Amino acid sequence: MKIAHVSDIHIHKRKGFNIYSICSFICTAFKTRIDMSVLDALLSDLQDLKDKNEFDHIVITGDITNTNHYDEFELFKNKFNNTFTHGSSIDWLESDFFSVVPGNHDRGYSGNISKKFQKNIYNQPRRAKDLHPIEKTLDKNTILILIDSTGEFPLSNLPFGCLGKIDNAQFKRLLKILERNKDKFKIIAMHHHPLIVPYYRWLAGFGILRKSRKYLTKFYSSGVDLILHGHRHYPFNWMHNPTPLSQQKMKVICAPSVACATVYDTNILNAYNIYDIQNGKVTIRQRGYKNGRYQWLP
Ligand SMILES: [Fe+2]
Ligand SMILES: [Fe+2]
Repeated sequence: MKIAHVSDIHIHKRKGFNIYSICSFICTAFKTRIDMSVLDALLSDLQDLKDKNEFDHIVITGDITNTNHYDEFELFKNKFNNTFTHGSSIDWLESDFFSVVPGNHDRGYSGNISKKFQKNIYNQPRRAKDLHPIEKTLDKNTILILIDSTGEFPLSNLPFGCLGKIDNAQFKRLLKILERNKDKFKIIAMHHHPLIVPYYRWLAGFGILRKSRKYLTKFYSSGVDLILHGHRHYPFNWMHNPTPLSQQKMKVICAPSVACATVYDTNILNAYNIYDIQNGKVTIRQRGYKNGRYQWLP
């Protein structure tokens, strides 16, 4: 099973003077926005690699928009539909090839977290509280579980509310899915990072998933094999070292941003990951944007 892991596209179409332009002035996170030529290069690269069977599934771990604006969702949908399905709508909820989860930039500041995302991307007219986790069978041995980590709590109802949360009802449903799939290779995809990504910048640890110790402990005891996330815009992977007490391995991988890795550090390339999963072993390769196109990184 080969998976392309894309994260943090940050399509920005909002114009004029508004709360987001104020935030952009004071907060680096809101300066994050994709250059359209990079997005076009990304789509053409994904199409090319898909044609060469370099991956069997694509998962996008959130922040597809920069300001949760209708035009940003429209552009995302149109670009992906035109590239992969000749303009017809991709069913992101049911597709066995395309998966996406919301990020903190895909929610508004009105308190209706994910409402626009669900309407525009999942094609759910009203907010469906029990939509996540979404379970997908990738092959007979592998499942992918999509989590909404942008959960509802008052402090996050602001455009700069980058904290993550998994609500309790969703977490209970997730544990049942894990219980049902004990013998399979279990992948969780979500936006927020359950571990601190060791890359220092001001308030670097602030946007972590809340109560992540509780979640990580349960993920581990439930035999989760791989956690894919974004949000930090920095490439990182961590693996639990098996000990005499436990032979289980669990990997946590942060994909860099495909769009705005360079906002924080000009030495980091905009990039995405390709994973090859064989017999429980995960091999990671990277495609980075260099000289106007995406290419394999050493
Ligand atoms: Fe982001
Ligand atoms: Fe984020």
